[in-house]
Amino acid sequence: MNSPITSSMSSLLFLFLFSFSLASSASAHTHENFLQCLSHYPNTTSNISQLIYTQANSSYASVLNFSIRNGRFSSPTTPKPLVIITPLQLSHIQAAINCSRKHGMQVRIRSGGHDYEGRSYVSQVPFVVIDLINLRSITVDVDERTAWIESGATIGELYYRIAEKSRTLGFPAGVCPTVGIGGHFSGGGYGTMLRKYGLAADNVIDAHIVDVNGRFLDRQSMGEDLFWAIRGGGGASFGVVLAWKVKLVPVPSTVTVFSVNRTLEQNVTQLVHRWQYVADKVDEDLFLRILLQSLNASGEGKRTIQATFDTLFLGGVDRLIPLMEKSFPELGLTKEDCIEMSWIESTLYFNRFSSGESLDVLLDRTPGFIPFKGKSDYVKEPIPEEGLEGLWEKLHEETAGRAQLLFIPYGGKMAEISESEIPFPHRAGNIYKIHHVVVWEEEGDEAAQRHISWIRKLYAYMTPYVSKNPRAAYMNYRDLDIGTNRNGVTSYTESNIWGIKYFKNNFNRLVHVKTMVDPTNFFRHEQSIPPLSARV
Ligand SMILES: Cc1cc2nc3c(=O)[nH]c(=O)nc-3n(C[C@H](O)[C@H](O)[C@H](O)COP(=O)(O)OP(=O)(O)OC[C@H]3O[C@@H](n4cnc5c(N)ncnc54)[C@H](O)[C@@H]3O)c2cc1C
Ligand SMILES: *[C@@H]1O[C@H](CO)[C@@H](O)[C@H](O)[C@H]1NC(C)=O
Ligand SMILES: *[C@@H]1O[C@H](CO)[C@@H](O)[C@H](O)[C@H]1NC(C)=O
Ligand SMILES: *[C@@H]1O[C@H](CO)[C@@H](O)[C@H](O)[C@H]1NC(C)=O
Ligand SMILES: *[C@@H]1O[C@H](CO)[C@@H](O)[C@H](O)[C@H]1NC(C)=O
Ligand SMILES: *[C@@H]1O[C@H](CO)[C@@H](O)[C@H](O)[C@H]1NC(C)=O
Ligand SMILES: *[C@@H]1O[C@H](CO)[C@@H](O)[C@H](O)[C@H]1NC(C)=O
Ligand SMILES: *[C@@H]1O[C@H](CO)[C@@H](O)[C@H](O)[C@H]1NC(C)=O
Ligand SMILES: *[C@@H]1O[C@H](CO)[C@@H](O)[C@H](O)[C@H]1NC(C)=O
Repeated sequence: MNSPITSSMSSLLFLFLFSFSLASSASAHTHENFLQCLSHYPNTTSNISQLIYTQANSSYASVLNFSIRNGRFSSPTTPKPLVIITPLQLSHIQAAINCSRKHGMQVRIRSGGHDYEGRSYVSQVPFVVIDLINLRSITVDVDERTAWIESGATIGELYYRIAEKSRTLGFPAGVCPTVGIGGHFSGGGYGTMLRKYGLAADNVIDAHIVDVNGRFLDRQSMGEDLFWAIRGGGGASFGVVLAWKVKLVPVPSTVTVFSVNRTLEQNVTQLVHRWQYVADKVDEDLFLRILLQSLNASGEGKRTIQATFDTLFLGGVDRLIPLMEKSFPELGLTKEDCIEMSWIESTLYFNRFSSGESLDVLLDRTPGFIPFKGKSDYVKEPIPEEGLEGLWEKLHEETAGRAQLLFIPYGGKMAEISESEIPFPHRAGNIYKIHHVVVWEEEGDEAAQRHISWIRKLYAYMTPYVSKNPRAAYMNYRDLDIGTNRNGVTSYTESNIWGIKYFKNNFNRLVHVKTMVDPTNFFRHEQSIPPLSARV
């Protein structure tokens, strides 16, 4: 039988196979030329071959694997890079960029690999990963209160190196020690000191970057526009950021932490509701975040909601207790709930390491991942109690798996910095940010789809309670659901949709900078800033 349908299907199939083999031989060809090109670079020749991994190298899989932090992008069907380069020095990066351009290879830049959507190591077209794992030196200058940090270092390594030299200096970056400097700083970067000192990107004072022409630039030679763009606009649209110079910040020799759990039976709804009137207004030394999850209650088959009030206070317990009694007496905090420690120990505490653990855990980069999907929201008006109760129902749903919400208080320094100071625009007027995340252990696409669909419904449920026009989002919690550049086509009108969510009015300036520094759109990915030439 040769019905019209089957015959057109077989010619489609033929076309598909044909174009597939064409595409793969074309890419094999490009990638051979690309490797040839690399090997011809002077100065780098003797070393660079030891830094290039193709799929034929036995260590390719483990090098790729090492910095994958989302198990959603580690399956056999996830597109893999043709080549991974792990540069040791500037000229290796220059060679990688020059040769990629010459041979039409797309480049992805990876520092710590924590991208929520795997964009530093996944692409739909033939691509090369420049993996900065070997560029991780950190130089701390205590007298000048500054540090130079290479992008491949982690924030745990940074905290460790600061603590080696001083217990009264710190840095306001994120919580999880394996997060990479390159993505974190270029996307904003916040942690337990954001109410006092702002974001990591707010404290960057110089940077080194390799641009699309293979040129090495510092703050002075790159100019203030590009220097502005890479502090929160995402580095990957502009070049490879090699290193950052930051201002260190003073921290008291004693800080106080507590972690207090409350459940539904302990009036969690009222407490969370009340927290919304307090968290962004209290003393900026106080960072009082809430972690929410659904747990089994005592009594079979019953569920409860647990809120963990996780706190860093930049001062001693004797100042904290009266402050809490005045501003948030409903929590019923006691001195016994509190622990005094050094700031560096608090970075361990927030990662649930037991007290007395060696600081060496901050250096631990042991690979490991489970699949997750995250999203973000900003809250400008307190959510009413009924709204919170509806949220608890969502968290109780079976498909929620291991879902968690984090409520991260703003105010303080965050409200003082202008929206256009750096590309990160979420400043005054935000009470808190929500981090929605669902994590699962089951393997396979079906489970992933089930949990992703759950978090999308949760996000829909939140619509009336969160920021609007735009519904703002945090770029470092990358979410491709809010919009992407189409494969190969980057149009201003389309990218504007997600662009204003991440950057508000700063998106236009980012487009302007992109047009100046990378008019041919060499550095691109699903959510990279488009140059104006691509405007339609
Ligand atoms: C477990 C976990 C905990 C987290 N905790 C926090 C937190 O407490 N606070 C917070 O603010 N965020 C947090 N994040 C989000 C994190 O800040 C972002 O995912 C960040 O972009 C990760 O940087 P990276 O270098 O590890 O990631 P990568 O995946 O390597 O890079 C992320 C993006 O930046 C680009 N990029 C990376 N390096 C460079 C470079 N050198 N030059 C140019 N572009 C570059 C990549 O191409 C990619 O687009 C967390 C993420 C995870 C997975
Ligand atoms: C080669 O390396 C040396 C030492 O690092 C440097 O001085 C020289 O400029 C480099 N030459 C080129 C062509 O990059
Ligand atoms: C490789 O590069 C390093 C610098 O990164 C240099 O010290 C060393 O001499 C080089 N080795 C060879 C064989 O050229
Ligand atoms: C990858 O394999 C090639 C060919 O066997 C070899 O020349 C190269 O040194 C290998 N690269 C690494 C990083 O081991
Ligand atoms: C990749 O990492 C996962 C999780 O750490 C591990 O189970 C797996 O064996 C690794 N694969 C390779 C090839 O290293
Ligand atoms: C890459 O090209 C630029 C010029 O486009 C040049 O200045 C630079 O030296 C090249 N990089 C290397 C490693 O040769
Ligand atoms: C809070 O609850 C978590 C479980 O969700 C538990 O691990 C932790 O020990 C509790 N904290 C305190 C102080 O009881
Ligand atoms: C919860 O709130 C009710 C009414 O406001 C109050 O009577 C009760 O003591 C509270 N329970 C706890 C554990 O705080
Ligand atoms: C919670 O309860 C369910 C059934 O009531 C049980 O299957 C599950 O293992 C429990 N989870 C935990 C973490 O105890």
